[in-house]
Amino acid sequence: MSAQETGLTVIVLAAGGGTRMKSKTMKVLHPIAGRSMIGHVLTAAYAVEPARVVVVVGHQREEVTAHVREGFPDVVLAVQEQQHGTGHAVRVAVEAAGDISGTVLVAYGDTPLLQGDTLRDFAAEHEAAQRAVSILSGIVPDPFGYGRVLRNHEGDVEAIVEEKDATPEQREVAEINSGILAFDAEFLLSALPRIGNDNSKGEFYLTDAIAIAREDGLTVGAHLVADVDQTEGVNDRVQLARMGAELNRRIVEGWMREGVTVMDPATTWIDADVVIGNDATILPGVQLLGATVVGEDAVVGPDSTLKDCEIGVGARVVRTHGELAVIGASANVGPFSYLRPGTTLGVGGKIGGFVETKNATIGDGAKVPHLSYVGDADIGEGTNIGAGTIFANYDGVTKHRTKVGRHARTSSNNTFVAPIQIGDGAATGAGAVVRGDVPPGALAVSSGPQRNIEGWALAKRPGTAQARAAEQALAGGEPGDGDVAES
Ligand code: UD1
Ligand code: CA
Repeated sequence: MSAQETGLTVIVLAAGGGTRMKSKTMKVLHPIAGRSMIGHVLTAAYAVEPARVVVVVGHQREEVTAHVREGFPDVVLAVQEQQHGTGHAVRVAVEAAGDISGTVLVAYGDTPLLQGDTLRDFAAEHEAAQRAVSILSGIVPDPFGYGRVLRNHEGDVEAIVEEKDATPEQREVAEINSGILAFDAEFLLSALPRIGNDNSKGEFYLTDAIAIAREDGLTVGAHLVADVDQTEGVNDRVQLARMGAELNRRIVEGWMREGVTVMDPATTWIDADVVIGNDATILPGVQLLGATVVGEDAVVGPDSTLKDCEIGVGARVVRTHGELAVIGASANVGPFSYLRPGTTLGVGGKIGGFVETKNATIGDGAKVPHLSYVGDADIGEGTNIGAGTIFANYDGVTKHRTKVGRHARTSSNNTFVAPIQIGDGAATGAGAVVRGDVPPGALAVSSGPQRNIEGWALAKRPGTAQARAAEQALAGGEPGDGDVAES
């Protein structure tokens, strides 16, 4: 039976404040590997192909609601005004969900390593065993703070007891409740009103449903999760970093197994939504972020950060910072290039050292090799832009575009004052300030003929080393003669 037919419901609890994060940002919105923590959980939830997903929000619910709606528009949002415990939260979720039947999975919004497979296998096991409740349990190095799974002499699950309510013997139990539970919907609906809050926290514990099922003579059971990290919640920023590093380790390892060479996994950071082609090479110190796509045989790094970029097949990107840029196949970028949003480099093109680009389309085989700023520009195929060229796109009020045609050759230290058009096959002279259009095939020179003002240094800088050097040279002396005596 598919999940759709059974009408599987996933409830994600995310109403708690997460005060130990000491953050203005709500805990479940903190990012790990390019997604919010709740984004990871919801991705896992939807991988099970449920009939519905309900998210319980409370603290900072405007922010959480907006974030969830944006990424997962089908989610049913349930508001828990005050956090009276997990049992209360699930009651609120069930009320918001309307008619539910089949299996109900409960998970938390702060477990970023959770995978869909784990939820799917757990739900399948729960359904196959025809239980009223199943616990996804775990063995953790330090069970302090967790609910313990209590079993009788036959090994059957009897109850979950919370840390604060446990006897010293019960605290010795190593098997903990990961927090992920599976319910038969009919049983859940009957159990929720029977959960009380007569306990050390005065909260409605969802975990009391286990003992209630036993009292009803129903089947309950626990399923040990092999990979406990998947259900580990993040409570503070130390755990946030640890889980972030662990998730990254898994992602990087996954890409290596897919045929990507990663020279130094420890300094390579790859977000969850990145895609990398076969035989690509990632050198040390690289961050591939957001929805970045790296083509087959491309080489990225060392020391590059690329966010939402597309790197073509066989391209080479060295020591580059880029965002929302598209680099063509076999193109070369870097070292020390800054690619800003809207940069597009054609096949076999080049953006070289100390070049900044923005809203610029640089054609196939076109090159901007050295020390330039290319903003709001279209550069045609095969064109070469000289060293130290500034595309002056801003007149102080508005931005304007510059269009350079195909196979143009512009010289060093030019300023292109937009809006202008430089035609196909045109050229410019060194130091030109181009303020008007250049027709195809023309050479634009803007600086006048060179004029030497004789004796300028002696007249305007008397008594300086510059003036003495000039004086000696004019008198036929050796360069440097005058400087030694000074000290
Ligand atoms: C809970 C379990 C415990 C389990 C542990 C695993 C209960 C009573 N205890 O304990 O058995 O070992 O998780 O981490 O279920 N939440 C709400 N609304 C509320 C209360 C909580 O949305 O009213 C959310 C929180 O935001 C959090 C999750 O539910 O994401 C768990 O709540 P928390 O208070 O952290 O439960 P624990 O004491 O950790
Ligand atoms: Ca917790």
